[in-house]
Amino acid sequence: MDESLTSKIRNDFDKIALHDQEGWDHNNHYHRFLLKQLPIRCKTVLDIGCGTGEFSRLLAKRADQVIAMDLSSKMIEVAKQRSKQYVNIDFQVGDVLQLQLPVEQFDAIVSIATLHHLPVEELLPNLKSALKPGGRLVILDLLEYESLQDSLSDVIAVPLNWLFQILKNRHIKASPEAVKAMREHLRTDKYLTLSQAAVASQSKVLPGLVLISFGQESDLTSASAGFFENSCS
Ligand SMILES: C[S@@+](CC[C@H](N)C(=O)[O-])C[C@H]1O[C@@H](n2cnc3c(N)ncnc32)[C@H](O)[C@@H]1O
Repeated sequence: MDESLTSKIRNDFDKIALHDQEGWDHNNHYHRFLLKQLPIRCKTVLDIGCGTGEFSRLLAKRADQVIAMDLSSKMIEVAKQRSKQYVNIDFQVGDVLQLQLPVEQFDAIVSIATLHHLPVEELLPNLKSALKPGGRLVILDLLEYESLQDSLSDVIAVPLNWLFQILKNRHIKASPEAVKAMREHLRTDKYLTLSQAAVASQSKVLPGLVLISFGQESDLTSASAGFFENSCS
């Protein structure tokens, strides 16, 4: 992967982390749904691109150990501050592409809103081999629109998104610096369409992957979740 892009992503998220406020967003909206796709009890779970660790903390309630990693050291700093009572989370700064993932180690691997920063074809085989037999890979990410149906789903999803923002984030006001940092990041963000994600992941790499597309997420992208159970022994 292009080192200058990795470096931009790291810098972008270092800035975004400084302005992060806890509240409702289009990623944590799906947390409960994603948790349902995971085993009730896990020994070891990996959270890739954990950000400020909100989902890692939910994982820590059902796993003996959570390894939560992120490219941005500032994100990990905030995550550690917010997770002091979670002694079973091991927060690590690192690039998942540089990580030598252990074979058949994890009961579950989770990644939220991070895969669009990574070369999926390169990463997925490594994630698959890092899962224990029967382990689960759960991914939530953004998608580029590709069909009229995607656009039509906005008729419901866009007003709902606004409504949740108003109701749930009433007391939260993003600072101009926060908005600027996010805009700068989105300038280089690129997403796959659902068909591209299916081709990149399903055919040979993760046979049996279930891909679900939800409605509008933000800035004219929709969200999708993928679940894969490693049936290889
Ligand atoms: C949009 S944030 C999502 C954070 C968190 N998962 C959430 O749902 O709030 C994407 C995160 O992925 C991280 N990231 C991007 N590329 C990465 C890489 N190569 N290795 C590890 N983390 C990465 C970023 O630093 C950022 O914190």
